[in-house]
Amino acid sequence: FSLKNYNTFGIEAKAKAFVSAETLEDLKTVLRQDEDVFILGGGSNMLLTQDIQQLVVHVNLKGKEVTETNEDYAIVKAQAGENWHEFVLYCIDQNLGGIENLSLIPGNVGTTPIQNIGAYGVEIKDTMLSCEALNLKTLEIETFTNASCKFEYRESIFKKELKNQYIITSVSFKLSTTNHKVSTTYGVIDAELKKNNIENPTLKDISNAVIAIRQSKLPDPKELGNSGSFFKNPIITKEAYEKAKALHPEMPHYVVSETEVKVPAGWLIEQAGFKGKRFGDAGVHKNQALVLVNYGTATGAELVALSKNIQQTVLDQFGITIDAEVNII
Ligand code: EPU
Repeated sequence: FSLKNYNTFGIEAKAKAFVSAETLEDLKTVLRQDEDVFILGGGSNMLLTQDIQQLVVHVNLKGKEVTETNEDYAIVKAQAGENWHEFVLYCIDQNLGGIENLSLIPGNVGTTPIQNIGAYGVEIKDTMLSCEALNLKTLEIETFTNASCKFEYRESIFKKELKNQYIITSVSFKLSTTNHKVSTTYGVIDAELKKNNIENPTLKDISNAVIAIRQSKLPDPKELGNSGSFFKNPIITKEAYEKAKALHPEMPHYVVSETEVKVPAGWLIEQAGFKGKRFGDAGVHKNQALVLVNYGTATGAELVALSKNIQQTVLDQFGITIDAEVNII
């Protein structure tokens, strides 16, 4: 079974067998029969470097609903297999605020808590109330509160202690119904709104601004295979930053805490000379150096080789280690 259409990098890899689980019962039945499975969500955050010798289970649970609503907030629950961007639009259509900055992020709802997706000053941890997940050992559904997910920048308990032990089946968000606190702190959003003479942006205005910015910088996976940011922005100590800055005074940075700063990996990669470069069908996007792309028939191994080359060059030039954000399989 070809997985080419099930990973946004568009890598040609095969699965031993493939099943799409449309309901929780489907999912449990499959797991009762076969313990050794590979769980697939939206396929937007992984790089396949080999065929999968397991049964691939596509989590395709559908459904979204407002489960509670009042003057201040509403609770909206979506099943894991819902497309994330369609869910964002569904909330905006009902005037529910809090995730509009996360418009157009590829992937499905069920994978959003795993890496605490974030963009333009907002992360899912800001509005996620809880999520439900199937324990692969007991086949029981367990509820995780926001706190128990241990969210950090692009991190959660599902990438660490509980890695490969749960399948997230649904996610609930607490969104505003009035007095929306739109987040325009991220400079590019403000600029986009000004360009269109919008002074008091609605949720839809913010969403449209984010969509315009993303479309101008990030390649559409339908046209050019990619997995969004391939690397995380490195968080380094102030000392390491001062050391690198002495040699590269123009290095941008964001303060994270009293002792740590975050450096945009896209800047490091661009300075290292990789932006827009192409090696066979594997390349670095021309508008955003953080994104690796597949021009057609790149293999996972070729993309991994490129990513290693980038990591080593950045380390040699800046003394900074950049880690992959994408799951390499
Ligand atoms: N930059 C460059 N060259 C580049 C790219 C970036 O110099 O080719 C520098 C610029 O100085 C720019 C700064 O990096 O000001 C930040 O760039 P940008 O605003 O594009 O954001 P980012 O840090 O590169 C992060 C997320 C994106 C998210 C944007 C917007 C990570 C790993 N990535 O990128 O998330 O959309 O911020 O909030 O944190 C994703 O995870 O797949 C993703 C696209």
